Amino acid sequence: MEQALKTPQNSPLSAVEIKQLFDAEYQNINSLADVEKLRVEYLGKSGKVTESLKTLGTLPAEQRKQFGAEVNQVKVQITEVLENKKAEFESKELNEKLLKESIDISIPAQKVKFGKTHPVSHVVQEVKDIFASLGFVYAEGPEIENDYNNFTALNISENHPARQMHDTFYIKSVDNNLVLRTHTSPVQIRTMKNGKPPFKFIAPGRTFRCDSDQTHSPMFHQIEGFYVDKNVNMGHLKGCLQEFLDRFFEVSGIKMRFRASFFPFTEPSAEVDIQCNRSGGKIEIGKGADFLEILGCGMIHPKILENCGINSEEYSGFAFGIGIERLAMLKYGISDLRQFFENDVRFLQHYGF
Ligand code: PHE
Repeated sequence: MEQALKTPQNSPLSAVEIKQLFDAEYQNINSLADVEKLRVEYLGKSGKVTESLKTLGTLPAEQRKQFGAEVNQVKVQITEVLENKKAEFESKELNEKLLKESIDISIPAQKVKFGKTHPVSHVVQEVKDIFASLGFVYAEGPEIENDYNNFTALNISENHPARQMHDTFYIKSVDNNLVLRTHTSPVQIRTMKNGKPPFKFIAPGRTFRCDSDQTHSPMFHQIEGFYVDKNVNMGHLKGCLQEFLDRFFEVSGIKMRFRASFFPFTEPSAEVDIQCNRSGGKIEIGKGADFLEILGCGMIHPKILENCGINSEEYSGFAFGIGIERLAMLKYGISDLRQFFENDVRFLQHYGF
C-alpha cells in the first residue's frame, strides 16, 4: 500500500500521501512506545514529514508554496494526534499503577500489640497540662550544660558540695567546663538571658547525678517551675503549689508543710511536705497525719535576677523543682525507682498508660 501511494522517485510525498500512510499505521498503535516510534517515523529528523519538506526545492516554483503549506498542516495534525494519544496512554498507565499499589485498609490487623506510654512521660504530660492551665508556658534547655549555667549563675560557688565529683558528671571538653546538668534550674538562666520579664514557665527534662541505689538513679527527671513578675510573693508560690498538688493527686485541700531549707538560688528556701497516711502498708496522699517530702522551692535570690540583667528591686519571683519519678511513684504506687529504667516490658505493660 505504501508503494502504491508513492510519487515518482525523489519527488516529495504530498500531504495527502503522508496522511494516508500515517492513518493506516496509527490504527495499530498499542503502547507509548508505538506512539514514540510513529513520532520518529513522521516528525523525526529523517521522518516522512521532514524529508518531504526538505525536498520541497525539487518542485516547480508554482507548486512549492501550496505543497509546503499542506505538508505543514499535516505536520500540525500529526503532532496533535500523537500528543493526545501519548497523554491517553500515560494516564492509563498511571491509573493501572495506582490500582496495583492500593492497600486494602479494611483487612483486619492480626496480632497487633499496642505500645504503652511510660509513667514518666505520662506524669510529665499531666503536670504540663495542669501548669498550662495556670498560664505557665513550656521551656527547655540542653542536657549537656556549661558549668556557668548549672552552677555559677545559680549562686553555687566554687566550693559548694554540689560541685564535688561524686555528685556531678563532668564532661571532658576543651575548657573542661561542661557537665551533665544536675538539675533543671539552669533553664532559669537560659530563659532569663534570652528574654525580658515577666517569665512564667515550666521546664521538664532529664537530669543526672552520680548516684545509684533503691531511691537514686544516675538519670532522673525534674520539672522546674519559674515565675518572675512585679510583686510576686510567697503567697503566690503557696497558692500555685496547692492548686497543682490538689489537681495532680485528685484530692482537694491537701495539707502542705513548708519546711525551711537551703538552696543557693532561692531565699528564703523551703522543702514542701504533703499530708499522707502510712498506716495500712501503702501511702495515701491527702489523708492522715503523716508528712512526706515532695519538692524544693523558694523565692528567687536577687543575685540570680541580677546575674541575668534583671532589676531585682523591680522584679521578684518564685521557683520550684519537682522530681517526676517521685510523683509517679506516689500517684501510681510504684515502689522501686530502678524499675523505671530497667526497660522490662512487663513494667510498661503493668504501669504504662
Ligand atoms: N534545683 C533544685 C534541686 O535540684 C530544686 C529547686 C528548684 C529548688 C527551684 C528551689 C527552686 O534540688
